[in-house]
Amino acid sequence: MSQKRYIPFNKPPSINDSREFITKSLDSGQLAGRGPYTKKCEEWLAKKHPKIAGSLLTTSCTHALEVSAILMNLSGEDEVIVPSFTFVSSALAYHMHGANLRFCDIREDTLNINEDLLEEAITKNTKAIVVVHYAGVSCEMDIIMSIARKHKILVIEDNAHGFFGKYKGVNLGTIGDFSTLSFHATKNISCGEGGALLVNNKVFLERAETIIEKGTNRSNFIKGQIDKYSWIDKGSSYILSDLLAALLYGQFKNSNKIQLKRRSIWERYFVELSEWALSHKVSLPFIPEHCEQTYHMFYLLLSEKKERDNFISFLADHDIAATFHYLPLDKSEMGLRIALNDQVQCPVSKRISDCIVRLPIFYDLEAAEQTRIINTIKSYGLES
Ligand SMILES: Cc1ncc(COP(=O)(O)O)c(C=O)c1O
Repeated sequence: MSQKRYIPFNKPPSINDSREFITKSLDSGQLAGRGPYTKKCEEWLAKKHPKIAGSLLTTSCTHALEVSAILMNLSGEDEVIVPSFTFVSSALAYHMHGANLRFCDIREDTLNINEDLLEEAITKNTKAIVVVHYAGVSCEMDIIMSIARKHKILVIEDNAHGFFGKYKGVNLGTIGDFSTLSFHATKNISCGEGGALLVNNKVFLERAETIIEKGTNRSNFIKGQIDKYSWIDKGSSYILSDLLAALLYGQFKNSNKIQLKRRSIWERYFVELSEWALSHKVSLPFIPEHCEQTYHMFYLLLSEKKERDNFISFLADHDIAATFHYLPLDKSEMGLRIALNDQVQCPVSKRISDCIVRLPIFYDLEAAEQTRIINTIKSYGLES
């Protein structure tokens, strides 16, 4: 392998089972949603999350979040609390479906929503808290759930990074009222674009089936419960094509292999960069003992933005794609326009956004490529 080969930031796994299932799906002609591969995927999700009432594949995590927003009947004064350091979808879905947003800052260590700031963000209008298990490391769910139950508000786990993660031995995505998964090409398990809604409270499950079926009771029709279907509720076209479900199912079946490989890459970065990080005042990810992470991301926290930007450029000059992450939502053009808490600053989100660098981590990353990444990082002339 040439030393000059460009190392991308991410590359979806190439899995033979997916090829086989896609061919079978094409041959079957059942390409629309809710077909045999969707059923297999949803059964697999149920097996992996034994506590849930049900799961529904969707076109994306964003759309799964939207379904949860519709299920909540948001209106007028309703408020949703969202971490400032997250992808736009965690906020957008609730804004689109009628909520006012309050942004909450994150913890310095796990980069998750700071549970100590929640009580002050809650008002009589708060309907829900969205939590994001950043990099697949759990938020402090015991505390968050007890605050939510005390105030009778819902919790949505935006689990885009946290598939296979655990909090105190409990699967992420099974703790809040709803949770969402992303199968976008950048995620550990992916089908290009895709997602899922996991419903933990069965009260919501039947309506969720209606919402993803464009507001119709088609799923009752398919189950033979009614002789024709019609428009009964809000909804949209949120159903994943069965062809993509076939691709996804191939990855589900190989998820142990994918996770093991990601774990070995993550651990190698951690071990081989620890000493360098210490002597260059760079922080590595922090994983609390009670959290089982998902090896979704390996990041470094540098001391300031200029240095972080130089570092990314340096790696790019060496044909290595490292990248920044979220721009804080409270500082975004839209966030500034619509947030309720315009006086509230989220300084930790801002600092992390300025200082974070994510390193390549993907199933097909070769050992020699990782050696090159690590050696290049160690050769960077940071002040110590
Ligand atoms: C935390 C979080 N939530 C939601 C999303 C949106 O996922 P999707 O692209 O599947 O809609 C992302 C995307 O990266 C994300 O990081």
